[in-house]
Amino acid sequence: MAIYEIVKFPDPILTTPARAIEKVTPNVLRVLNNMYETMKFANGIGLAAPQVNILKRITVVDVEDGKGRLDLINPVILEGRDEEIGPDGCLSIPGLFGDTPRYRWIRVQMWNAKGEVVEFEETDFRARCIQHEIDHLDGILFTSRAVRLYREEAQPNSPGRKKKNV
Ligand code: NI
Repeated sequence: MAIYEIVKFPDPILTTPARAIEKVTPNVLRVLNNMYETMKFANGIGLAAPQVNILKRITVVDVEDGKGRLDLINPVILEGRDEEIGPDGCLSIPGLFGDTPRYRWIRVQMWNAKGEVVEFEETDFRARCIQHEIDHLDGILFTSRAVRLYREEAQPNSPGRKKKNV
């Protein structure tokens, strides 16, 4: 395992669409493990490959809701419903947050670690995070979707106001 360096805004890789994974190789799985470790090390809840300078369509999510880690390979949002405005933050744009419209409910298609195409539904904050990560794969940052941006330092000792970066 290894910790990657997280690319920060305005690095142009963050606004460059990533390329599809053609085959799930051991190297792809190793990169996902490293991304997960990097995300945890940075106290984040999601991380997309372009954020670690890898222009591939893979991302990891763990929003600490008890559902655990989710690796997404070539993910696509098939359907979304019930748009709502909520907070987005990003490990690549430290200290900045935004009131950002996202679907409350999504249906996602992706490849699993065996390279099989699978579909699932997700809701609420986990759905928000997945949408944020898939945006990264398309070179889209939350700052271009947010209706309001604001600066706030992370406040790890006050859980009610705790913001997490993805
Ligand atoms: Ni992000």
